[in-house]
Amino acid sequence: MKIVVLAGGISTERDVSLVSGTEIYKALKGKGHDVVLLDVYLGFKGDPSHIFEQDNDWLGNIAHIATSAPDLEAVKASRGYDSPSIIGMNVIEICQQADIVFMALHGDFGENGKLQAMFDLTGIRYTGTDSFSAALAMDKAVAKQVFMMNGVGTPPSHLLTGPDDPYTPGYPCVVKICNGGSSIGVFIANDENEYKNAIKKAFSYEGRVIVEKYIKGREFTDCVIEGRALPVVEIAPKEGFYDYKNKYQAGATVETCPAQISDELTKQIQDCAVAAYKALGIRTYARIDFIVGEDGKVYCLEANSLPGMTPTSLIPQEAAAVGLSFPDLCEQIIRISLKKYE
Ligand SMILES: Nc1ncnc2c1ncn2[C@@H]1O[C@H](COP(=O)(O)OP(=O)(O)O)[C@@H](O)[C@H]1O
Ligand SMILES: [Mg+2]
Repeated sequence: MKIVVLAGGISTERDVSLVSGTEIYKALKGKGHDVVLLDVYLGFKGDPSHIFEQDNDWLGNIAHIATSAPDLEAVKASRGYDSPSIIGMNVIEICQQADIVFMALHGDFGENGKLQAMFDLTGIRYTGTDSFSAALAMDKAVAKQVFMMNGVGTPPSHLLTGPDDPYTPGYPCVVKICNGGSSIGVFIANDENEYKNAIKKAFSYEGRVIVEKYIKGREFTDCVIEGRALPVVEIAPKEGFYDYKNKYQAGATVETCPAQISDELTKQIQDCAVAAYKALGIRTYARIDFIVGEDGKVYCLEANSLPGMTPTSLIPQEAAAVGLSFPDLCEQIIRISLKKYE
């Protein structure tokens, strides 16, 4: 099969995406597919015609980017040409030659449905859910409304109207940007001073910010593939909450899959994951994050429509728990994603 793996982009999760993309590229090549690895923002400056017949070092092309600092201004400057487009040179032409584009993107750009909509309009097939459900899942304030309308428990929250919103939260509370990911723009505030600082920082990312009740309890995540839940993972950071550092620094968090919890709680989380997936209208796959409070209630935090796909990411761990290797998981995602086009 001819596959373009799209990674990179210009979101705060660019670096994570480059790791996901590199691993998916290697896995699919190992399975014998014709694969092109492309940075959606930097694009390809060479001749895009007959791309699958060209002998390019795609890994070398992208690896030097992965090691550079995640400084988005530097990435912009490195493109070497002036364009307002966040789609890099020849990306569409190259994607149009593929049987499918594997979406290894995370974060607002790539996960928010806009690229999916452009692909629908340009006749490009891609992995993961469609543009509308991706957009619904991306915005935490909207997703939480959809959860509530469908009986999916989620922590109570308030959407701030701006940095001067007079809302007074109870403490501790969680301030988070609506379109973030990887815990970027998520702050736990224990008092008014911390809350004010958190608001200031959050609004420096984007104009949509929610304040959520802090739920003390145990954290879990569960992946749903084609409407069926995989085994649940428990996430226990050794220090603090599941922030960027604890997500991506090896050994910082203990991840247990399958989670050592009762069959009853496992089923409750899995049912809630499937309900959240269905409520948002997600197709193909997603990973849903939860906290189970000390009150025993299951609270859904969010749904990730393009979750991390590094070999140590959570979905590959859940897949491994049911005997599915990383390359097999990549192929399964392609197979189920092609069903969107039947
Ligand atoms: N209401 C909450 N109560 C307690 N911890 C929370 C809450 N919301 C978020 N967190 C912590 O912050 C992390 C990131 O929040 P999440 O809503 O999943 O956003 P992201 O899209 O950045 O992953 C969670 O994994 C959890 O550790
Ligand atoms: Mg999360």
